[in-house]
Amino acid sequence: MQPVKGMPDIFGVELLLMNEATSAIKEIAELNVYSEVILPVVEYSEVFHRTLGDSSDIVNKETYTFNDRNNQSLTLRPEFTASVCRAVFSNKWQQQLPLRLFTIGSLFRYERPQKGRYRQFHQASFEFFGVSSVQADIEIILMATNILQKLQLSAITQLEINSIGGKESRGKYTKALKEYYSKYEEELSEDSKLRLLKNPLRILDSKDKQDIAINKGAPTLIEFLSSEELEHYNEFKNHLNQLNIEYIENPRLVRGLDYYNDIVFEITTQELGSQSAVVAGGRYDSLSQVMGKEQIPAVGFAIGIERLVELMKVVNYPIASAKTVYALPIGEKAEGSLPKIMNELRQMGVRCLFDYKNNVSKNMKKASNLGCEYVMFIGEDELKQNIYKLKNLASGEEKSLTINEIASILQE
Ligand code: HAM
Repeated sequence: MQPVKGMPDIFGVELLLMNEATSAIKEIAELNVYSEVILPVVEYSEVFHRTLGDSSDIVNKETYTFNDRNNQSLTLRPEFTASVCRAVFSNKWQQQLPLRLFTIGSLFRYERPQKGRYRQFHQASFEFFGVSSVQADIEIILMATNILQKLQLSAITQLEINSIGGKESRGKYTKALKEYYSKYEEELSEDSKLRLLKNPLRILDSKDKQDIAINKGAPTLIEFLSSEELEHYNEFKNHLNQLNIEYIENPRLVRGLDYYNDIVFEITTQELGSQSAVVAGGRYDSLSQVMGKEQIPAVGFAIGIERLVELMKVVNYPIASAKTVYALPIGEKAEGSLPKIMNELRQMGVRCLFDYKNNVSKNMKKASNLGCEYVMFIGEDELKQNIYKLKNLASGEEKSLTINEIASILQE
């Protein structure tokens, strides 16, 4: 019995760090008054197939799509943005703009698994609907950088930005790219040969070594932006400068999904090999129209939780845990009284556990292996007097104390 390839069980340190990451994310969401939504894991396939782009890798070869028993085509969600946008209209939230939403959960992509890349993985996704000015882009970027700062990851990550303009500029750019890549058609990877036919912009995202070399000489999008788009991009950079947010301009950052326009960004790291993006996002003003609804300007980002966890390991992020006491009963009577004493401690907020097996030295070892800070001895005399011996495992110090005194030490 094995888990499905690329869909690992999550437990131990990884899970503890994941919980730390999630609570930092929720804290930042709370401070920015973003409302949490929990959305279904499956959607009608067109929610994604119509919106992410025919030429995107996700739609082309990564979705888990199947027919249900009623012959409806359903897709396990490969990302959140299209689902959140769908939910806005399903729930008529477009009447309450501006709208700030976030969601956390698992996503599914049929990718080649490797470190930092899974077939089931987790994201937190933040989406801001209803504001087209550059301040909204800044709000989104600040939230992403604040999360990384809170998790002590600022020093090993960097913000990369670009503007991909609107449809018209991208159309001109695509034409120029087509001309450029046609000269190298024979040398391109098999995937990129197809991309050249469908959407040459996607070649810029290629991870193939030969493609990367060819990409170095490709024209850049910035040369094709209109003066308005350039002005928007400059205004955005001015804000970043004023806020002292460091960034790198990456003219080849185009993102792998079709719904973006104007400002796009990624926060990358050099600690995760080829899976360098931890955060990714940008503006997607026409996604709602592609869904057949009215146009709502929008901007957002997603943060990959597994990649965050890998980085938290790199910086030895401290896992918060309450002090724990391990109770050791000595004799049958003491064992019988354990549930009552443990319950009293827990009601005072003390984390405690015990074992029924009566071998004191083995249990002492177990307590220390479990990371407990204290051992509490419960013998018949202690029971009569209601005073227990508490041993600090690190210092070896022992004290005889009442339950209340033990509780206040453990809570310090
Ligand atoms: P994305 O670039 O496809 O964007 O994914 C965002 C982040 O999810 C990546 O930077 C990475 O950290 C993580 N991620 C993606 N694929 C995997 C995988 N197979 N295994 C582990 N982690 C992964 C989006 O999904 C957009 N919806 C982001 C967005 C939100 N744009 C606007 N709002």
